[in-house]
Amino acid sequence: MNLNEGPGRICAAAEPANSPLGAIQFAVIAATQSGNALLVAEMVAARLTLRGAERVCLVGEGEYPAAALAQSDVLVACVASHGDGDVPDGFLETYQALIAERPDLSHLRYGLIGLGDRTYATFCGGAWKVDALLGQLGARRVGDPCTIDASIQPFADEEALAWLEAWLRGL
Ligand SMILES: Cc1cc2nc3c(=O)[nH]c(=O)nc-3n(C[C@H](O)[C@H](O)[C@H](O)COP(=O)(O)O)c2cc1C
Repeated sequence: MNLNEGPGRICAAAEPANSPLGAIQFAVIAATQSGNALLVAEMVAARLTLRGAERVCLVGEGEYPAAALAQSDVLVACVASHGDGDVPDGFLETYQALIAERPDLSHLRYGLIGLGDRTYATFCGGAWKVDALLGQLGARRVGDPCTIDASIQPFADEEALAWLEAWLRGL
């Protein structure tokens, strides 16, 4: 099955040939409520393309990522927190479906970008829930997560992209 057939948008076109990222199938997930994580996910997908990734699938709010996760080598999960350290409402159905269906993600490596606010007691709680679930499904996290504190960082994309550049070197 081609990623084009499932939910998610193919947003990458081939850039520099011979990039080590060119052979990797990436998925980028946005779990967002008010748009910050989606902006970050879009910027991450664009940066991956710029760095030579030829296959990047951006999975937005309300799009079930099963096909993209099954077919990808590497995931970047951009996850905001809402409620009391919960995943965003728009991602809850996906989160619960993954728990229920328990797809085998042992082929998948991932990086985690958590968007939160340290004035809440459960800083980035939603991102940690997704991190735990991915681990239970067999996916292997690469490197430390990027946790972005909206109370001191108004430019989430800048912090995420700085993290991404360093994280890609560890892939
Ligand atoms: C009603 C509400 C509840 C929130 N709850 C949390 C929380 O429990 N933990 C946390 O770290 N951040 C919390 N935040 C902060 C958001 O995660 C942060 O603003 C993030 O950038 C929002 O991303 P989004 O625009 O992608 O939804 C909350 C924000 C709002 C408005």
